[in-house]
Amino acid sequence: MNVIELDRVTIAIGARNVLAEASFAIQRGEFIGVLGPNGAGKTTLMRAILGLIPPNAGALRVFGRPPRRGDAAIGYLPQVRTVLPDMRVCGFDFIASSVNGDRWGVPWITRADRKMIDAMLAAVGGRDLAKRPLAEMSGGERQRLLLAQALFGEPRLLLLDEPLIGLDYRYQEAVIDLVRRFARERGITVLVSAHEINQLIGALDRVLYLGNVHAALGTVAEVVTAPVLSRLYGADINVVHANGQIFVLSRGRNVEHADHLHDEDHDHNHRHERHRHA
Ligand SMILES: Nc1ncnc2c1ncn2[C@@H]1O[C@H](COP(=O)(O)OP(=O)(O)OP(=O)(O)O)[C@@H](O)[C@H]1O
Ligand SMILES: [Mg+2]
Repeated sequence: MNVIELDRVTIAIGARNVLAEASFAIQRGEFIGVLGPNGAGKTTLMRAILGLIPPNAGALRVFGRPPRRGDAAIGYLPQVRTVLPDMRVCGFDFIASSVNGDRWGVPWITRADRKMIDAMLAAVGGRDLAKRPLAEMSGGERQRLLLAQALFGEPRLLLLDEPLIGLDYRYQEAVIDLVRRFARERGITVLVSAHEINQLIGALDRVLYLGNVHAALGTVAEVVTAPVLSRLYGADINVVHANGQIFVLSRGRNVEHADHLHDEDHDHNHRHERHRHA
């Protein structure tokens, strides 16, 4: 079954196309790495899948129907995590507050919810975050909390937008392994955007590369090639394999590194977005 289907989808923001006539399908249980330069549309695509941005043309289907806002079957980790609603709230209440789509009030949760929150916090190695206020967590700890929130509620689809930013190398691997295992066991479909393909390479089923209003979905061998990436980057790209890693180079420069130097600035576009899409 296709969990996500695009049939000649065009998405514009303002007067500019971010995607033009993109067609591809993602199947149930796939782990997809979403890559591409800054501004390629990774976040925009996830927001369209959440029903937050309607396509301008074509058909976008999620679970076989047009996306609906606040679909509880989708767990979402937004890219912007610097501005959180209430920094005094503790980790447990933060997750609990998303249970009924009620972010501000005192949440009413069942015993089962409570157990699941504990389990999700344990899954991300964040049991001790339950009682601590957000204000006193490090960036990486907050990130794990948000991941626990995205995993909460038995999602069938996970959209994780740059979950590795701000995590040190050790945690990057742990987070990807965790998500991979969690999703495998439950048949969850996962889209994870990242700066660099090497961060995801061990976990991927297929990659979705975005760039230049185009999308290419396929195995690493099919997509991460000089001709495909040259088209998506609009530049002469070389792909070099070395030490089990892949380097995407333009005139000897690693474009994946260069492209993301200004990530934090770019994020301000989305800073008012709700942390939970409900
Ligand atoms: N709220 C907005 N207002 C205007 N333009 C926007 C807005 N959000 C996104 N854009 C533009 O849409 C395009 C796609 O942005 P998007 O955030 O989806 O890219 P991205 O691939 O996620 O980039 P990054 O790697 O920096 O996260 C960019 O050109 C961006 O400037
Ligand atoms: Mg983005």
